[in-house]
Amino acid sequence: MTVTASASPSLALIKYWGKQPGGVNLPATSSLAVTLEGLRTTTRLRLQPEAAADEVVLAGRLQPTATFSPMIDLVRARAGSDARVRAESENSFPTAAGIASSSSGFAALALGLDALFETSLDRRELSSLARLGSGSASRAVYGGFTTWPRGAEHAEPAFPAGHWPELRVIVVVLRAAAKPVSSRSGMNRTSETSPVYPAWLDESETLFERGLAALEARDIEALGTAMRESYLLMFASMLAAKPPIVYWQPETVAVIHAAESMRAGGLPVWETMDAGPQVKLLTTQAHVSRVSERVLAIAPAAELIVAGPGGEPEVRGER
Ligand code: PMV
Repeated sequence: MTVTASASPSLALIKYWGKQPGGVNLPATSSLAVTLEGLRTTTRLRLQPEAAADEVVLAGRLQPTATFSPMIDLVRARAGSDARVRAESENSFPTAAGIASSSSGFAALALGLDALFETSLDRRELSSLARLGSGSASRAVYGGFTTWPRGAEHAEPAFPAGHWPELRVIVVVLRAAAKPVSSRSGMNRTSETSPVYPAWLDESETLFERGLAALEARDIEALGTAMRESYLLMFASMLAAKPPIVYWQPETVAVIHAAESMRAGGLPVWETMDAGPQVKLLTTQAHVSRVSERVLAIAPAAELIVAGPGGEPEVRGER
C-alpha cells in the first residue's frame, strides 16, 4: 500500500511563539491562521516491513528521524504494528526559510501515517498528532481559517475559505536559504532569556481576540493592524533574547517600509513575518498587482507567491 498525503502551510495572522512548560508543543499564546491555497507539501508513504529503521526523505535528502519518531511511534503503537515506514516529501516552495514548511510537512505526515496504518483518527486527533512534529502543523490539518488556543492540544477550524475568498497573502521570498535559528530553538531562547517575553504573553490574548473579531467581520484594516502588532511584539521579544535573534535582512526592512508607504497612499496592505527574512503581505485580490509592482520596484530579486485562503489537505491510498 502506498499513501500520498498533501497539505498546505498555515500562515499565522496572530502568532504562536513560546511553549507552555510540560507537554509537547503546547502553545503559550493563542494563534489565528490562514491555510494557504496553492502551496503544497506532498508526502508519499509506504510500509517497509523488512527495514531496520524508519526513513524520512525531504527533497531527496534522508533526514535524522528523531523529530519524526514520536509521531510515527504513536501511530504504529495505536495500530498494533511494528512495520517500518518510508516517507518521501517534497515542497512546492522554499523549505525551512520561514514559509511555514514545517506546518504543511508535519500535517501531511500525520494524515499520511493515519491512512497508512488505517488508524482512522478524527481531525482533532490528527491535529494533535501533527502538533508533536511542529506546533504550527496542528493548524495545517485544516483548510481555511483556524484557531489554536493557548495551551490547547489541537487546533480548531474557525471559518471555511469561502468566508473571505478575496483575501490574499503575497509571500515575498527575499532569501530562500534555510534559516540560521530554528523556530524551536528560537522560541526556547526567547522564553528562557528575553525580558520582553512576559509582555508578549500579556498582550497576545487581546491581540488574538481582536484578530478573530476582525476576521469574523472581514475588516481588513482591523485584522491587518492586529496582525502587525502581533508579529512586531513577537520580534521585539526575540530581539531582546540573549543572545538576540535577528532574522531580518536589509530587504526585509525595505519591504516593511514599502508597506507603510503603500498604506499611506491608500492601498490596503499589512505585513507579517515568521522565523525567517521573508515578508508576507495581507491584501485583497483587487490590489495584488499594484502591491506586487511596488514590492518588485524596491526588491527586484524577490520571488512573489500569491495565495488565497484554502489548502484543504488531501489523502490518497493505492494498493
Ligand atoms: O511550530 P513551528 O515550529 O513551525 O513555529 C511556528 C512559529 C511561527 O511561524 C513564527 C508562528 C506561527 O504561529 O506559525
